[in-house]
Amino acid sequence: MTTKKVNSMLGINSYGRELNQDDIAKNVHRGFIGGLWGKLGKLQLEFLKEHGLQPDHKLLDIGCGCLRGGLHFMRYLETGNYYGIDINRSLIEAGVIEVKKEGLEGRLPTLLVDNHFRLEKFGEKFDYMVSVSLFTHLPMNIINRCLSKARRQLKQEGVYFATFFEAPYPVHLDNITQVPGEIVSEYDADPFHYSFEELSWMGAVSGFNTKLIGDWKHPRNQKMAAFTLST
Ligand SMILES: C[S@@+](CC[C@H](N)C(=O)[O-])C[C@H]1O[C@@H](n2cnc3c(N)ncnc32)[C@H](O)[C@@H]1O
Repeated sequence: MTTKKVNSMLGINSYGRELNQDDIAKNVHRGFIGGLWGKLGKLQLEFLKEHGLQPDHKLLDIGCGCLRGGLHFMRYLETGNYYGIDINRSLIEAGVIEVKKEGLEGRLPTLLVDNHFRLEKFGEKFDYMVSVSLFTHLPMNIINRCLSKARRQLKQEGVYFATFFEAPYPVHLDNITQVPGEIVSEYDADPFHYSFEELSWMGAVSGFNTKLIGDWKHPRNQKMAAFTLST
């Protein structure tokens, strides 16, 4: 018997579940990726604009989901400059429907379903990359794969922004109730927390300098980090 491994997140986070067409018609996808549809979408664009995103930049959204942020990014960016990748095919399909609802097909987003962060498939180098609520759902080895692949596709002066749940020190085995939001993060289960020291190590082994931006007005206490090329 042969098995086709497409979505390897089963048992790691809830994104191993693929939504069906009925779910998508009922907008289940908006809650599945965390809700706060309008607020968190706008917040992502505002943050990146404050940190230098210009319409002529190329942006890659890693773990883009059903384009909660993507819709705002593609409205702001010049045609063809928004790229998204996600492991969950149903969320990308829902995102395509959201794009049509907003009349944004003409912005020509490039969307990819992939389970190993094969960012080279885009055949581009990016000015900015962003991952909102991705590292919060991933164990360290998978974040390392993501960062290692991101390192190769980021322009020399580029920045990769990613959110995470912060722990006060490494190997923080106890759960943490993140305030505001009351999400309980864990050391070795989804949703994951990491100390800045741990995140910096993950950045360093992939050739990044890691800077803590910290609070960026996220309503569930996810902190922001910025990765830049160290060589
Ligand atoms: C909480 S959602 C956030 C989506 C989007 N960034 C947003 O802000 O709306 C997390 C996303 O990460 C994706 N994801 C989880 N594990 C992944 C992996 N290993 N590779 C790529 N995407 C992954 C999920 O499918 C989901 O779309």
